[in-house]
Parts: sequence; C-alpha cells; structure tokens
Amino acid sequence: MPQLQTLFTPEEIKLAVKRLAQEISRDYQGKNPLFLGVLKGSFIFMADLIRNLDMPLEVEFVALSSYGQGMESSGKVNVVQDLRTSVKGRDILIIEDIIDTGITLSFLLEYLQCKKPASLKICALFDKASCRQIPLPIDYLGLSVPDVFVVGYGLDYDEKFRHLPGLYLLKE
Ligand code: IMP
Ligand code: MG
Repeated sequence: MPQLQTLFTPEEIKLAVKRLAQEISRDYQGKNPLFLGVLKGSFIFMADLIRNLDMPLEVEFVALSSYGQGMESSGKVNVVQDLRTSVKGRDILIIEDIIDTGITLSFLLEYLQCKKPASLKICALFDKASCRQIPLPIDYLGLSVPDVFVVGYGLDYDEKFRHLPGLYLLKE
C-alpha cells in the first residue's frame, strides 16, 4: 500500500493561492487576461485561484501529456487537447500545477509564442527547481517542493489522489 506524508496542509496551500491572486490582480489591472490551465493537474488550482480574484478574466484549458503512467517525465510532450480560444493579441497567463524538468512548459511557451499573444506569463503553484532541465521564467510561484514525487490538490499518481486537499509525498 502506498503511504502519504503531508508536505503542505490545505491551509498552507490556501494562503499561497491567496498571495498569488493578490500579485496577479496587482499586475493585470485594466486587462482581461486569458488564464490557460494545463490539464489535468491544474484544475483545482485554477478553480481556487480565480475565486480569489475580483477582476475580468477568461479561462481556457489545454491538455498536454509527458508522464504517461509513471513517476518520470518521458521527455516527449503531446498536445492531447488543443485550446479553442484565439491567443493572438491576448494577455496569456499559464496556470500550471507543478514544474519539474520544465520540458512541458518550455514546449507550451514555444507553442503559444508562435500564435502571437500580447503577453505570456507563467503561474505555477508548486516548483521542483532542483529537477529543472530547461530553465524557465516563473512569474508567479506558490510553494517550493523538494525532489520527491508528490500527489494531491490536482496532482496524481496513475490518475489517483487528485482529490486530496493537501500536498503529499508518495512513498511506495
Ligand atoms: P515537467 O515537464 O517535467 O516540468 O513536468 C510537468 C508536469 O508533470 C506537471 O504539470 C505535472 O502534471 C507532472 N508532474 C511533475 N512532477 C510531478 C509530481 O511530483 N507529481 C505529480 N505530477 C507531477
Ligand atoms: Mg501539469
């Protein structure tokens, strides 16, 4: 049976999400940004983040896959579900659950840059900076995580544990 060890409690995550919302609302005053969530992992973060914001915004999702069923990135990114909103001339804020190697987001940045957005920024709730293979500018960062595999708050292992309210270290 896998064991779970708490890394961040629901309360700690809530505070981080609130702080990110404050930073974002300060920077996007007078704009109508498109919050682009990376599925599936970001759906809970997106839902909590936007409910902390009192400003015009729109929501879109893109589904990318790089992990398959394991704990290691395969290194190859696929667009599993494309966005259905035009990116051209929009202020795009990518909403990501966790950045690990950086392979997924560097692919997405390039993919979106060709579509000529007005601006393109990254908001990540969790960051495993020590695992980075491709350097990335994170404009809004929630919480740093050590080099361990984590689940909960949207993050899965083999599609399980996404519904858990905190962030947990998964021990096999
Ligand atoms: P990267 O391409 O290595 O940066 O991986 C990014 C994606 O892999 C994230 O959006 C997550 O969906 C997934 N991922 C990375 N680390 C973890 C983890 O510790 N637990 C669950 N999913 C993870
Ligand atoms: Mg993800």
